[in-house]
Amino acid sequence: MGPFEYRLRPLERLISVEDYRVAASKRVPRLVWEYIEGGSDDLVTVRRNEEAFLRWSLRARMMTAHAERRLATTVAGVQIDLPVLLAPTGALGLSDWRGDLAAARAAEAAGTRLILSTASSWSIEEVADGTRAGHFFQLYPGGERTATLMQRAWQSGYRALFVTVDVPVLGNREGERRRGYTTSGSLNRALTLTPREAIDMARHPRWLLHQYRHGRGAMRNLLPTAGVQATFDSIEILHREIDRATFAWEDLEWIREQWPGAVYVKGLLDPDDAVRAVSIGCEGVVVSNHGGRQLDHALASLEALPAIVDAVGGRAEVLFDGGIRRGTDVVKALALGARAVLIGRPQIYGLIVGGQQGVRDVLGVLRAELDRALVLMGVQGVEELDRDSLIDRDAARL
Ligand SMILES: Cc1cc2nc3c(=O)[nH]c(=O)nc-3n(C[C@H](O)[C@H](O)[C@H](O)COP(=O)(O)O)c2cc1C
Repeated sequence: MGPFEYRLRPLERLISVEDYRVAASKRVPRLVWEYIEGGSDDLVTVRRNEEAFLRWSLRARMMTAHAERRLATTVAGVQIDLPVLLAPTGALGLSDWRGDLAAARAAEAAGTRLILSTASSWSIEEVADGTRAGHFFQLYPGGERTATLMQRAWQSGYRALFVTVDVPVLGNREGERRRGYTTSGSLNRALTLTPREAIDMARHPRWLLHQYRHGRGAMRNLLPTAGVQATFDSIEILHREIDRATFAWEDLEWIREQWPGAVYVKGLLDPDDAVRAVSIGCEGVVVSNHGGRQLDHALASLEALPAIVDAVGGRAEVLFDGGIRRGTDVVKALALGARAVLIGRPQIYGLIVGGQQGVRDVLGVLRAELDRALVLMGVQGVEELDRDSLIDRDAARL
């Protein structure tokens, strides 16, 4: 065989998270894509989440001869084979009807876990019944269903509870609003379909067919019925129940007392908040700005991470999300003190492109990139990563 090989099948083309992003963008209507990709106001924090990784260079050490890297860690006492969890993302079934169940199964196959959203498209019970491992549950607290949701999750075998606290009101998602999605509360419906968006949906017949056939647009924990009307109604219920500006520390304390398993507070950016969460007995925090979907001009998650790690001082687990798109991003978050990271949008790209296998592939891409980065850095295991693994480019320029 000469230097060129002829193949009947096309070469594998999706080899990075960015490849999956581009492929996914073509497969869903704009309204859905906007919901996935968008953020609040001018998307400053969305952009900074990714840009913040550029501040750090990786230290590369040579000739440290070893054959295998250790990628495993534990979160909430559960062993995971790579330090990447699937973040809770609501209304996954709008992106692809196979939704949360496919994501949970993909996580399991990759040796990790899904954090199931309160706003999931497959219910707490459906995901528990359809999987083998115990997954984690994300709670939007404050609504009248809080206690019931917690009970259902515990009874179904979810042992770690992630309480999301950064949505006292929904961020100003202008992109969504321009496409007819509203959270103003002044309209009867949370979604008004304009002719332009309806036409765009018609251009995605496969997506449309699956939405009609499987009815997974609705948030099944809030409304157990299928169908288009249920989708509209559940969005309304969600907004009524999660936009709770009055949710306060005392309420979190109550949750901490009620929940027999581990409690993580998701959506912290300030070290004082992290210390307070630890002081009331939470097992962990997730440093997160909700993927830039809440307060625009908030700190990039990565910028917020080191101070929180220092303030918590090993008394609780610090997890991280926001802008992870490469294995080297995982390396940086871990080196700055995160125990594991969560991926939000990348899992949705995988789901849209290939269902369960697509999510698994995205996790596989990140795993391979993380592993390769560690070899190239001369590091044997994720537990070796610390601030000495990084070079601060800002400081180097001084
Ligand atoms: C479409 C979408 C829906 C989300 N829904 C939820 C949710 O229901 N609950 C929650 O705690 N966070 C939710 N998030 C935030 C993610 O859990 C996570 O914090 C964020 O996506 C991380 O940033 P990344 O997308 O850059 O990985 C959502 C994010 C996206 C993109």
